[in-house]
Amino acid sequence: MAGATNPTIPTLRTTRLVLEPLSWADSAGMYTLWSDPAVCEFSGVVRDYDGQLVPTPVVSIADSDRIIDFWIRAVADGWGFRWAVKLDAGFAGTVGFNSLGDCAEIAYHLCPAYWGAGIMREASAAAINWVQARGTTTIEAFIEPDNGPSIALAERLGLTATPAFSDGAQRYVLLEVALSSRGTLRVPPRTPPASRLCRAGLLSLDFADWGLPALELICP
Ligand SMILES: CC(C)(COP(=O)(O)OP(=O)(O)OC[C@H]1O[C@@H](n2cnc3c(N)ncnc32)[C@H](O)[C@@H]1OP(=O)(O)O)[C@@H](O)C(=O)NCCC(=O)NCCS
Repeated sequence: MAGATNPTIPTLRTTRLVLEPLSWADSAGMYTLWSDPAVCEFSGVVRDYDGQLVPTPVVSIADSDRIIDFWIRAVADGWGFRWAVKLDAGFAGTVGFNSLGDCAEIAYHLCPAYWGAGIMREASAAAINWVQARGTTTIEAFIEPDNGPSIALAERLGLTATPAFSDGAQRYVLLEVALSSRGTLRVPPRTPPASRLCRAGLLSLDFADWGLPALELICP
């Protein structure tokens, strides 16, 4: 999916949630989300699509609307987007991708009123399933070391800490090793090299050097 352009973003449904492409209809919800200091604490610097700083927590709907504008324009340019996460038709937060391609960067923000109920785990799992079905092989997230709830969520989703940092945020990854319909192995570019490969159909990857458990796949 490298070089993805203008993805057609579907509405996703999970057991409790509806994920709708973020739109101007979410203006009030986005203000509630981005005016909350607890949401902004570990969310880094926010800029509009013209690169101008959006002061957070926002103090006006005009400023949170600049964030909606950012993601609507990102969709048009094809490199990222946000879903509005809806519970009982009410806006609870957003989940989406800061980048799309073989590697996609997930990002999630939930109104504190909804914390501690597994809402974002449910939403993020659906988001990851969707992007993997489009061909993404690596999910990454950048999380500040003091953001305990986000680290816990990333780990619940199967992401693992790496030694890499960017702007003070640690990189977490979820790697997918997949078999094509022909039974050939597809290893994502950033996957560590296989230490043992058995042509008889048993593949064993040793991730010990990366602090990950060994993985075995039986080819069809
Ligand atoms: C990161 C963030 C989305 C995590 O929200 P969350 O509600 O803790 O995450 P989840 O949806 O995974 O919910 C997990 C919690 O729900 C509980 N839970 C309750 N019912 C549940 C269910 N049915 N299924 C799963 N978990 C459930 C879990 O026990 C867990 O609570 P705990 O942490 O007290 O053990 C939230 O803290 C947030 O929006 N932070 C501000 C923005 C931010 O920092 N974003 C990340 C930037 S890197």
